Amino acid sequence: MYQRDLDKQKSLLAKAAIKYLQKGMVLGLGTGSTIDIFISELSKIENLFSSLKIVATSKVSAKKARDNRMNVVDPDKYLELDICIDGADEVDRNLSMIKGGGGALLWEKIVAYRASKRIYLADQSKQVTQLGAFPLPVEIIDYGHEWSAAAIEPLFKGVRLRKEATGNIFKTDSNNVIYDCLIKNEENTADLGSKLSAVPGVVTSGLFDQFIDILLTCRNGGVKEISSKENVFW
Ligand code: 5RP
Repeated sequence: MYQRDLDKQKSLLAKAAIKYLQKGMVLGLGTGSTIDIFISELSKIENLFSSLKIVATSKVSAKKARDNRMNVVDPDKYLELDICIDGADEVDRNLSMIKGGGGALLWEKIVAYRASKRIYLADQSKQVTQLGAFPLPVEIIDYGHEWSAAAIEPLFKGVRLRKEATGNIFKTDSNNVIYDCLIKNEENTADLGSKLSAVPGVVTSGLFDQFIDILLTCRNGGVKEISSKENVFW
């Protein structure tokens, strides 16, 4: 699929997601190129965005939202999130996802966990029969990360420390590192999450199971809303 078609899908998905917002809501704002488009679409509707409180899932998204005059607030004990809108890297037929391509997986999971309704936007390239063509990001604390990585390595076909284009080690907004891990074909991803969390130093992984309330995705050039596995069409 051409990049311009995917960009068009992202734009359709972003516009469709805005329809779920109501004035005065507290919004969990995701991270990534689809969410960048969502921010720019939302920025065109001042009477809506000016009424929202926004908790961002990354420093990058917080800056983009603030640059567009949106009201970005910190997570706080009394703040209930009405809705969370985010992107995805892969979605399978059970509506399990891989996320974290942009490195924001931890904050994305924390914010989504707190939200009453979670909406994910996935262009057609994200629809998969089995998770794993996209390497699974695993966030590990910086201290002793090579030991933690050695401990998770047998669970995967391969693990690779994420680096910036400059060659520097990529650091998350929580100052952790990420290993991008190739899932074994025979691996049951439901078990993988618990195996990973048993390893000291592993903070979280990009496996998002049971997070989707509504998936907005594309088919034949239009947006499809999916809220249960029975409606999955790929
Ligand atoms: C960032 C993420 C993104 O939601 C995911 O990578 C999708 O990004 P894009 O919209 O650019 O395809 O998990 O950590």
